[in-house]
Amino acid sequence: MRKLLPLITSHPGGSGGRSAMTCRFRCGDACFHPVPNTSDNEYMGDVIAGALSRRSMMRAAAVVTVAASAAGGLALGPGAAEAQAAAPEAAAEAKRRGKKAARGLRFTPVAPNTADTVTIPTGYGQNVVIRWGEPILRGAPAFDPDKQSAKAQAGQFGYNNDFLSLLPLPGEKHGENHGRQVLVANHEYTDEILMFKAYDAKNPTREQVEIAWAAHGLSVVVVEGERKSGALRPVPRHHLNRRLTVTSKFHLTGPAARSEFVRTKADPRGVTVLGTLNNCSGGTTPWGTTLHGEENFNQYFANAEKVTDPTQAARLKRYGVAGGESERKWERFDDRFDLTKEPNEPNRFGWVVELDPYDPDSAPRKRTALGRFKHEGAQPRLTRDGRPVVYMGDDERFDYVYKFVSSKRMAKGSSRWAREHNLTLLDEGTLYVAKFTGDSPAAEIDGTGKLPSDGEFDGGGTWIPLATAYAGGKAVSHVEGMTADEVYVFTRLAGDKVGATKMDRPEDIEPSPQSGKVYVALTNNTDRGKPGKAGADEANPRNLNKHGQVLELTESRNRPEATRFGWNLFLVAGDPNDPATYFAGFPKDKVSPISCPDNVAFDPHGNLWISTDGAQLGSHDGLFGVATKGERRGELKQFLTMPKGAETCGPLVQDRRVLVAVQHPGEIDGASVEKPASAWPDGPGKLVRPAVVSVWREDGCDIGV
Ligand code: FEO
Ligand code: CA
Ligand code: CA
Ligand code: CA
Repeated sequence: MRKLLPLITSHPGGSGGRSAMTCRFRCGDACFHPVPNTSDNEYMGDVIAGALSRRSMMRAAAVVTVAASAAGGLALGPGAAEAQAAAPEAAAEAKRRGKKAARGLRFTPVAPNTADTVTIPTGYGQNVVIRWGEPILRGAPAFDPDKQSAKAQAGQFGYNNDFLSLLPLPGEKHGENHGRQVLVANHEYTDEILMFKAYDAKNPTREQVEIAWAAHGLSVVVVEGERKSGALRPVPRHHLNRRLTVTSKFHLTGPAARSEFVRTKADPRGVTVLGTLNNCSGGTTPWGTTLHGEENFNQYFANAEKVTDPTQAARLKRYGVAGGESERKWERFDDRFDLTKEPNEPNRFGWVVELDPYDPDSAPRKRTALGRFKHEGAQPRLTRDGRPVVYMGDDERFDYVYKFVSSKRMAKGSSRWAREHNLTLLDEGTLYVAKFTGDSPAAEIDGTGKLPSDGEFDGGGTWIPLATAYAGGKAVSHVEGMTADEVYVFTRLAGDKVGATKMDRPEDIEPSPQSGKVYVALTNNTDRGKPGKAGADEANPRNLNKHGQVLELTESRNRPEATRFGWNLFLVAGDPNDPATYFAGFPKDKVSPISCPDNVAFDPHGNLWISTDGAQLGSHDGLFGVATKGERRGELKQFLTMPKGAETCGPLVQDRRVLVAVQHPGEIDGASVEKPASAWPDGPGKLVRPAVVSVWREDGCDIGV
């Protein structure tokens, strides 16, 4: 029987295993503020009792098998006795399934641990690809924490790497294994306390603020593979290398560009924004661009309490823009972060940004047709006729899942015309929000995570249209009482009005390139079921949900533009000994414990890789692979763990390497530059630095085969 690891004291805000410092710098203490979604739109517990399908009836027989290894350690829910009785059956089933893990997942899983390193499987090697502060642009100096300046930082790799993309370098002959590739990285936010000696949070200096501006944003850096390993090294001064920061020029495109809500004194036409904020996860498009979600942008703006117009105040509240000074005090150095001076500036953030990494002179575009919310990521795939469909999560407790379906087809090839055409794909199309309906009686969803009698948390759903954008910035609203501009700029309010389903923090979403099924990481929601808050429903079946779940959404494979879908919970995360967990029916004594799924990615074999944020089981955060199909479906294996205080971000799995972004190492309450909580990556006495890590097999073979 697996022993529960000692629990690390969690942050009193109930935000999973995060430190208070993470909450403060990353999300602007989102978990301590009231949940912004106070709408009374129904949630989906109201399911028709008589609607059990034949499929559901057949599944009922599987219930006991599913919960089979629930035993020991934790209080057992109703039905556990039957579950225990079925344990031998589960073992026999595992035997029948054979000994080998799915191709791509054949490694010895890393045990949960609290080592201050990146812990990887036996037989694998690793290297630090690039750290915060390493020079990437011509003329940028080597990193020197004692002489750091905004000018230096603007030419160096930014802080807190999150989303990662690797794209082919034109003309490269050695391919992704040993050749050069273009790495694109998000820099979500800054930890000033861990960046500056003697940092005074009440009185940051102009230089410190400007360094933080330059440490946010995006990096493009060419990297080169080592001949005899999977190690990657940056190629400084390559002509594609680039930094985009809080002061770089971005264009607003699509229906909400030029609208009254995005005009400011500095930009009266509403088309040019300085900077991008809080870039969390993202996506890579089939036409060779990258997408970057602007997430907790609300925390950078000050003085919301001084906004007296009730409509505007309500909009700010729905987006969690709090009153008073901002955490980083940027409003003291740039008026646009002060709502009393520039009330529309927050409306110019919270978008999906599209970057063309192959055109170092291009201004990235904020694609307003994809709506404005706390965008986690944005991953597209194509319809059969070549139109992109982009899946997106709004990462806040009780917020929504969205998709955008373009009305334009991708042009093939790399001609100038094709590239220019493809840069218009995300400006025209329809934005939808998801409503999930369970197929089990509401009474069977009791908030404990106990499976309903049909053996699965599952059901159907609809994509509810919010607005459609056309050429030339024209658009039509599908939401009664809201104009198209309002739908695009205040998308959360549109979701409230149409009765979207309140989810447990929708993070990264990834369509499987092989099966077409779509995987939604729902990190946690410790507010679910609290007085006055939405209770458990079949897609979010646990109250006080601290471990999260992964939802599998099934659309017509050839018609991802369809507006109806089926869904089931693929994983209900937590310690496998906890009866309230589920691993797609795979025997639970044969999987790794997982908590707080966040970023998701697919490997070349069709396995889903899941990184965690704020894991609550006493281990550091980690990266896991899980089979999504075949006899091993649901077999989840831990591939690596993070150093102290770090979150696992940006996973990418190529044939020969796994790439992860180690975000906020050492971000532990009470830590500072003088009193570091971690010695990663360079050992004691050196500054703790977020960095990208590459992992490969030492025998030169493919990952996990
Ligand atoms: Fe930046 Fe939702 O994680
Ligand atoms: Ca069900
Ligand atoms: Ca995330
Ligand atoms: Ca992803």
